[in-house]
Amino acid sequence: MTQTITPTPLNPLPNGPNSSPAWQLLQWIGQPIALMESCHQQYGDIFTLRLSGLGPLVFCSHPQAIQEIFTADPKHFDSGQSNQLMQPLLGDASVILLDGDRHQQQRQLLMPPFHGERMRTYGDLMVKITRQVTAGWRAGQTFNVREPIQNISLQVILQAVFGVTDPQRYQALLEILPSMLDRVSSPITSSFLFIPVLQRDWGDWSPWGKFVRQRSHLNQLIYQEIAERRAHFDPERTDILTLMLSARDGAGQPMTDGELRDELMTLLLAGHETTASAITWALYWIAKLPHIQERLVADLSAYGDLNDAKTLMRLPYLSALCNETLRIYPVAPITFPRILKVPMTVMGQDFAPGTRLTPCIYLTHHRHDLYPNPQTFCPERFLEKTFSPYEFIAFGGSDRRCIGMAFALFEMKQVLATLLTQFRFEFVGSRSIKPVRRGVTLAPPKSLQLYLAEHL
Ligand code: HEM
Repeated sequence: MTQTITPTPLNPLPNGPNSSPAWQLLQWIGQPIALMESCHQQYGDIFTLRLSGLGPLVFCSHPQAIQEIFTADPKHFDSGQSNQLMQPLLGDASVILLDGDRHQQQRQLLMPPFHGERMRTYGDLMVKITRQVTAGWRAGQTFNVREPIQNISLQVILQAVFGVTDPQRYQALLEILPSMLDRVSSPITSSFLFIPVLQRDWGDWSPWGKFVRQRSHLNQLIYQEIAERRAHFDPERTDILTLMLSARDGAGQPMTDGELRDELMTLLLAGHETTASAITWALYWIAKLPHIQERLVADLSAYGDLNDAKTLMRLPYLSALCNETLRIYPVAPITFPRILKVPMTVMGQDFAPGTRLTPCIYLTHHRHDLYPNPQTFCPERFLEKTFSPYEFIAFGGSDRRCIGMAFALFEMKQVLATLLTQFRFEFVGSRSIKPVRRGVTLAPPKSLQLYLAEHL
């Protein structure tokens, strides 16, 4: 629910466009990069966008402002409340929509499988799925990149979250999830998320009606899985559903089916769309810039044992390439807005409770003082300099930092290494590809095509 802020003469909101909030929202949905860039040029490092239904958002792109926000006491902010537009997809009990103690409890429960040894056990699975999905690829073909890559990341997260499940249900999930996401992804269809009044079910033929029906089919599949796993509980399994089924809250109560459903949906959605976009962008840059592909392939062959997850994680050029991919076109243009619960001063400006402070990932990553020639793709910048967690913020920060960060970087590296040892990619066309809106994220267009050349 949008909270109204009454700026006082002592702490007015920073400047921003004067156009109507409805128009600003339309620009934010349709042309987010152009809007952010023109506001930054006109109003500087801290400005206010007034987005109808989402409230005024104070965009911050100076590392000092971001440091002040990320290092402040997290209890001084609510963020879950500002993510209500995700509620139709994720449900009320998603970690993304929670605040306070419940948010912290859910994070602690969900984080371990996405780190360290537990995470590395998924390495073989990532390689196996990549090989299966690309088994039919042949040199000389031109192909749409996004779909197969999304298929890989969806299968990886389905296995990590559910483990091996009933094959028919697994197949049904593989089909229904991408189709449902496509329904709320384009700038036009994602308007349903941003403008709740459009969330009307006018039957099978209406876009929202179709979405609601697909969602209930998906819920049915997830609830069936939960019921079976409760009935045949196996504590030895290492997937995340098993962990959640064993969890007890402070009063000794297990998670309800509704809570389990919302958390599973969150991990399935947050965990595959984002990573698929990042891998697709990486392949685009690799194909477009042959010198980068050559250096990467040389690096990969020099290291030999790529089955060793620790070695792969430490390859410097591959790491730099992944970071640069997430810098130049970050999948999330902004972090979750932080809604102030107490007064706060950021870079000398006073803000009242209720203000939505919003670190802007895209603008921070395009600062000339941090990243010279920011529009140029150049992995070397990450070899020459270490950026602070307030300068490179692709995964956000503080108590809301992405819980899948290590997992996503690991998957990017596993998938890219597997593909580059088998194929050589070329970019067809002369135009540069720009990000398009995909739900609340920015992504490469679905039409992005690459050419598979003979491996050298
Ligand atoms: C390249 C891939 C990814 C990117 C760029 C990304 C980015 C982000 C960002 C920017 C946030 C908000 C952080 C903040 O507001 O400070 C976030 C939150 C989150 N991400 Fe990711 N993410 C990625 C992959 C994943 C994966 C693989 C998973 C899970 C398997 C995941 C699960 C989550 C969850 C659950 C949150 C909410 C955390 C909270 O509310 O405490 N993400 N992510």
